[in-house]
Amino acid sequence: MTLMQKAIDILSQNDRGGYTIPTKGLYPYQWNWDSAFVALGIATYDMDRAWSEITTLIEGQWPDGMIPSIIFRSDDPDYFPGPSRWGKTLGDIPSTGISQPPVLATVVRKLTADNPARRAEVFDALYAWHKWWHDARTVDGIVATVHPWETGRDNCPEWNIGLEAMEIAPDLAPYTRMDNKHSNPKFRPSQEQYDKFLTIVQFGEHVGWDQRRLTDEGPFLMADPNIHFVLLRADKDLLAMAKSVGKSQEILDQIAAWIAKGEAASDTIWNRDLGAFTARDMRSGAFSNGFSNCSALCFYADTGTAEQRAKTRDNMTRIAVCVDHMLPSWDPEAPEFEPQRYWCGPLWPQMNYMTALGLSEQGEFDMAARVQGDLCRAIEKSGFWECFNPITGEGCVSNQFSWTAAVWLSWHHETKLEGAA
Ligand code: DGY
Repeated sequence: MTLMQKAIDILSQNDRGGYTIPTKGLYPYQWNWDSAFVALGIATYDMDRAWSEITTLIEGQWPDGMIPSIIFRSDDPDYFPGPSRWGKTLGDIPSTGISQPPVLATVVRKLTADNPARRAEVFDALYAWHKWWHDARTVDGIVATVHPWETGRDNCPEWNIGLEAMEIAPDLAPYTRMDNKHSNPKFRPSQEQYDKFLTIVQFGEHVGWDQRRLTDEGPFLMADPNIHFVLLRADKDLLAMAKSVGKSQEILDQIAAWIAKGEAASDTIWNRDLGAFTARDMRSGAFSNGFSNCSALCFYADTGTAEQRAKTRDNMTRIAVCVDHMLPSWDPEAPEFEPQRYWCGPLWPQMNYMTALGLSEQGEFDMAARVQGDLCRAIEKSGFWECFNPITGEGCVSNQFSWTAAVWLSWHHETKLEGAA
């Protein structure tokens, strides 16, 4: 069987009727940015089904505009924290109370290039979501985050400074982790990290999921290069869509203002000592201390000065000789690097997708080809895993993973949708 066919089979096995779960066992619901990447992959063979991936995700949108990180259409006792732990959330469908990196507008722009009706159908929902980020999460001019889960990079060492500065709630309700039943605990976040993740959830529930209070008063507040660059890129895609569907000047001006704010905010996360874009604790001002696989998303967002881009390239060139498979999620020369533990080292398919696309769009063709080719080699060697050991190319955490299948398809189908590589 070809890898393309295997990828299509994985996406059908993970189909739950209009939406796709990331993988059976570990992730039994609809995840936000997973679905955006899944739509890209399914669009290569069934555009209508790809579209329902997007509209089912939007069904979970809250009245304040937020599209949550997980939509709970059932209560699966095999997943924790499920709907009961998040408490009374504010959408029509039970969900988490936080969001996830907003790649959706970028994907919608690509998939609706010749379908203005579909573009118009979802535009207002996307606009409301972006407005939510800019209103509910902006701190000192940059869109920040209140929870490592919101960044999609749960236990990346980026978050250590923010997590170290917070306490585990003394009244944290007891719980049993389920993730470690489905995958090797050595690959997953530590117990202390989990206790802190749940402490933030408890705080959110305590303030009735008032998102501004969660941002201003919550236990954790960091700026994240992933959310920052993904949103900046998505704002640019949203502006292009607003023009193409004839939105009012007021809306065009608002999006243009978000973009200007985002361009200026790139400097807020420029870590001079490291010569890299990194996360930053918005309470203490301290920077995290490693080059991650989001540092290079400045190319994807088309932002940063010539000097910042050159230093980013230098870091990538240095890292490229340390690993066989680019791009590790954490700097292999940093002390916290662990090649198999979730976001502490493995390379991630969706990140390689965005990184390769951005590099290619900005004319960095050699590095784009390396980032794309290294992921493809890992998939050819090991299969469609959630993430991969960057030294050996072995798969980590979960197999039969939807976004890995989707990225493979989007890169390999006959009539390429991608500008990249
Ligand atoms: C999990 O359950 O580990 C997820 O990453 C949270 O979104």
